[in-house]
Amino acid sequence: MINKPPPSIIALDGPAASGKSTLGRILADSLGYLFFDTGIMYRAITWIALQRNLDLRDETVITELAKKAQIDIRPPSKADGRPCDVILGERDVTWEMRNGEVDANVSVVSAYAGVRQALSEQQRRIGMRGRVVMVGRDIGTVVLPQADLKIYLDASAEERAKRRFDEIIARGEKADYDEILRKVIERDRIDSTRAVAPLRPAEDAIIINSDKMNAKQVFAHVMELCK
Ligand code: DC
Repeated sequence: MINKPPPSIIALDGPAASGKSTLGRILADSLGYLFFDTGIMYRAITWIALQRNLDLRDETVITELAKKAQIDIRPPSKADGRPCDVILGERDVTWEMRNGEVDANVSVVSAYAGVRQALSEQQRRIGMRGRVVMVGRDIGTVVLPQADLKIYLDASAEERAKRRFDEIIARGEKADYDEILRKVIERDRIDSTRAVAPLRPAEDAIIINSDKMNAKQVFAHVMELCK
C-alpha cells in the first residue's frame, strides 16, 4: 500500500488562546515542518510602536513601520517555554511581546490594511515553500487559501481565559482571571469585526472545538486528519 504524504501547507487559525500555538508547535515538530506563528509579527510591530511612543491611531505611520521593520525569529535560546526567540535589533523581546500593553493594543495595529498587506506578503512567501504549519487568524482565508489542510481551532472565551490565566501563573507572574476574560472577549470582538481579513473559518476549514479536549487529544485528532 502506498501511503499518501501528509499535507505540506497546514493553515491553523482560531481566536486568542484557543491552543493554536501549542498544537502548531507539536504538529510541526512531529512532521519535521517549520512552525510559524504569525501573531508574533503583529505583536512585534505593536511593541516597537509603543516603545517609540508612536501614535497607534495613525495608520500611515504604523503602516510605514510594518513595511520597514526587521523582525528576526530564531530557534529558542532558553528552555523557558518559548517556541522561538524574537529579536528586534539586538534585543530579545520574546516575553515582552506578550505583555498586557501589547495585548491591549495589538488588535488596533492588526486591523490596518497596509500593515496586514506588508506582513501577509512576508508570510505567504515563507508559507509557499511548503512543509509548514502556519498559525494565525487569516491563514486559511487570506494568506494561504491554497493550503492543503485548514484547521480552525475554537474554544469558549471562559476556557481560553482560564488557559491564559494558568499560563501566566505557571510563569510565576500575577494574573486576574476576570480581567483576562474581559480582554479575551474584547480582542475576539475586534478581530472578528474588522473590515480586512476578519477572524473567521475558511469555508473548507475543519472546525475543532477544544473545550473538552486537552492538548494531546487535539493533537491526536489533527494527526488523524493529516493521514
Ligand atoms: O495569536 P496572538 O494572540 O499572538 O495574536 C496577536 C494579535 O495579532 C491578535 O489580536 C490578532 C492578530 N493577528 C492577526 O490579525 N492575524 C494573524 N494572522 C495573526 C495574528
